[in-house]
Amino acid sequence: MSRILITGSFGQLGTSLRNILSDQSILAAGRMIPVEEIDGCTELDITEPNQVRETIASYQPDVIVHLAAMTNVDGCEQHPEQAFDVNVRGTENLLDNFSGRFIYISTDYVFDGSKGPYGEEDEVNPISVYGRTKLYGEDLVQQSDANWVILRSNVVFSFQERTKASFMDWVVDSLKNRQSITVVDDQWNNPTWTVDLARIISRVMDHEIYGLYHYGGRDLLNRFAFAEMIAETFKLDRTLIEPIDTASLNQLAKRPLKSGLRPEKIEIDLGVEALPLQKALNEIYSLS
Ligand SMILES: NC(=O)c1ccc[n+]([C@@H]2O[C@H](COP(=O)([O-])OP(=O)(O)OC[C@H]3O[C@@H](n4cnc5c(N)ncnc54)[C@H](OP(=O)(O)O)[C@@H]3O)[C@@H](O)[C@H]2O)c1
Repeated sequence: MSRILITGSFGQLGTSLRNILSDQSILAAGRMIPVEEIDGCTELDITEPNQVRETIASYQPDVIVHLAAMTNVDGCEQHPEQAFDVNVRGTENLLDNFSGRFIYISTDYVFDGSKGPYGEEDEVNPISVYGRTKLYGEDLVQQSDANWVILRSNVVFSFQERTKASFMDWVVDSLKNRQSITVVDDQWNNPTWTVDLARIISRVMDHEIYGLYHYGGRDLLNRFAFAEMIAETFKLDRTLIEPIDTASLNQLAKRPLKSGLRPEKIEIDLGVEALPLQKALNEIYSLS
């Protein structure tokens, strides 16, 4: 059985990936380990070269799934050096010590959002610090000796996973409390359930595929429409959701507007079908 090291294990996607891989041999690494998680976990700050070297030397992984990143898009814009440290140097530290199977999760923010949904062959042009640092990370992976897969995804969502900022939790909690919310109606993506993406990552590990891939849910829609679908599925009052445009939010970092990722290449190579959003939401609702 392969030995799998996961970085950023206690984030949104890492939480789902640990569940999906629970019968496998994994070392779940995180900058901080939640108190209730002790077995099979290790503290690892990827910006600390010594910690990275020692962790890889002692665990001897066959596969690294690299999820750890500074993901707060406006935070990256405000603290570009910190973003570079985590997203670029952190990735470099791992690659300096490892040449096995390396799966790097990247983002549609490497595109400018002028003509999505994007295929793997489309030209990148990040418009934010977050997007640029994730792209530099991709460059390092591509230049490395590792057996790499770069898997780009977008609008990754989960529900009730103890993670910091979940769009879905925010929508459901607000509407349950009869609070009105505003949601942008000019950012287009194909939202991707963490559990679905974790299943895809698990299949990537089982298949001899290499190179750059895109994966996202089946449906391309704007964020306001996504919030409305959440409301309908959870039988909540969708009239509490108001549309707003991105420009009026005055956020620090620019967002790609017409984005989204085309999953056809990975669908063919792995023999999978991207999951329809309503199906994901129904499954989440039935589990909640
Ligand atoms: N969320 C999306 O919509 C999306 C879309 C496309 C791609 N991705 C990519 O998917 C991956 C996972 O994202 P996510 O949604 O699960 O984000 P997340 O919940 O923010 O998880 C990222 C994890 O990385 C950890 N981390 C940050 N700095 C670290 C460091 N120096 N050393 C070790 N760990 C560190 C964070 O720990 P702390 O909590 O301690 O900071 C967090 O647990 C990321 O690479 C992201 O770029 C995400």
